[in-house]
Amino acid sequence: MNILIIGVGYVGLATGISLAIKGYNVRFYDKNKEKITLLKNGKLPFFEPKLQKTLIESLNDKRVIFFDNFKEAIANAEVVFICVGTPIFKNGDTNSKDIEKVAMEIKKNKQGKTVIVIRSTVNPKVYNSIKSILSDKDFHLAVNPEFLREGKALDDTLNPSRIVVGTDDKLAKETLKKLYSSFDAPKIFTDPISAILIKYASNSFLAVKISFINEIANLSDKLGGNIDDIAKGLGLDPRIGKDFLKAGIGFGGSCLPKDAKNIVKYAKETGINLDIIDAASKLNDKQYKVVIRKLKQYLGSLNGKKIAVFGLSFKGGTDDLRNSVSFRIISDLRRAGAILKLHDYLAWIKAKELVKVTLVSNDPYLVAEDTDAIVIATDWNEYLNEDWKKIKSLMKGNLIIDGRNILDGGLLKKIGFTYEGIGRK
Ligand code: UGA
Repeated sequence: MNILIIGVGYVGLATGISLAIKGYNVRFYDKNKEKITLLKNGKLPFFEPKLQKTLIESLNDKRVIFFDNFKEAIANAEVVFICVGTPIFKNGDTNSKDIEKVAMEIKKNKQGKTVIVIRSTVNPKVYNSIKSILSDKDFHLAVNPEFLREGKALDDTLNPSRIVVGTDDKLAKETLKKLYSSFDAPKIFTDPISAILIKYASNSFLAVKISFINEIANLSDKLGGNIDDIAKGLGLDPRIGKDFLKAGIGFGGSCLPKDAKNIVKYAKETGINLDIIDAASKLNDKQYKVVIRKLKQYLGSLNGKKIAVFGLSFKGGTDDLRNSVSFRIISDLRRAGAILKLHDYLAWIKAKELVKVTLVSNDPYLVAEDTDAIVIATDWNEYLNEDWKKIKSLMKGNLIIDGRNILDGGLLKKIGFTYEGIGRK
């Protein structure tokens, strides 16, 4: 089975390389020539360690080929996966320009029976638009949402929690059944709308779970409770589950915030209010302000105060800055007149190009030097292993606001820090 993957982001590469590992011949196309050149040379355009290693192995075994010419790439493809980004506008609508363009390119360049799989996250409106562009009888359409997490992209694709296929087309269904036959995972074959809603409901539920625990953490802060114990006590109920109950400054990234806003906007157009999901988004948009409040509580005016922000990527283990909560904190602090120094283990290089501040570095000691306070904005586990005694001796002040509740507050207090988490005693 000849497979073409369109779009070489996390989803496209993880999908294609997983299929190559399973023994398929996989071609990749992307309109971004720089990315294709990098990939031809065995380099990923982003940080994802396991994917990096398997990319090189797949190139060596000649199981993957990269193209920047669409016509050549699609020529003998039997199954085409659409994996391009579907970003949203400020008002929550999908910017479907790229995905619709891909559909038009397929229509223009492809003849003969082809199964076309929408792997990108699309709402029913975008799905219908793609369907009408690809209405030819030779095109057999399916929706196959992905559930991979950045940082675990390959593992999540090779060993998914579930495989969901939504299609009304017999050939598409049979082809995808065969394609995924060697994947050991529960499989759900359903209609396209249900498959689409499984994806949106999944990310929205995760968003709700995080905003829920953040709301309880805000109450716990006020009342003097300990959110770690509260989350543990809550999560031990198997009906609730312990995952995604880590309180903090809110969720970021290219998926949760986008999908929650997009489905609320789309549902509203159909006359349905998704009040719970909407509330989760709205709480998330302001949850980061807890850090600003706490800084002001200890430092008074932030004008002229030197503040280190530790963590720039939207979560630990990635260099992805998209929708990172750190940047909301950074812009509020700038507006308040603070002097900023920024740290990240990986994303500091990308961040350096984006923000002009006193210092952006991957050296936490250099960043901490002479600062009044440190804000932890990303859950990099590596922060646990830094020498906090040394950091304390380098700082001017002694305040740590741990926006991700990852450090050991008791230990830091012993060293002489004033420590504040989110909802933590
Ligand atoms: C998310 C979903 O977890 C994947 O299942 C989904 O496939 C993917 O979106 C997608 O739609 O492509 P990802 O964006 O990689 O994956 O990030 P998550 O691990 O879900 O984290 C999202 C944000 O929530 C991060 O900012 C993280 O710090 C935050 N978070 C997560 C919390 O604040 N608390 C938690 O308990 C968990």
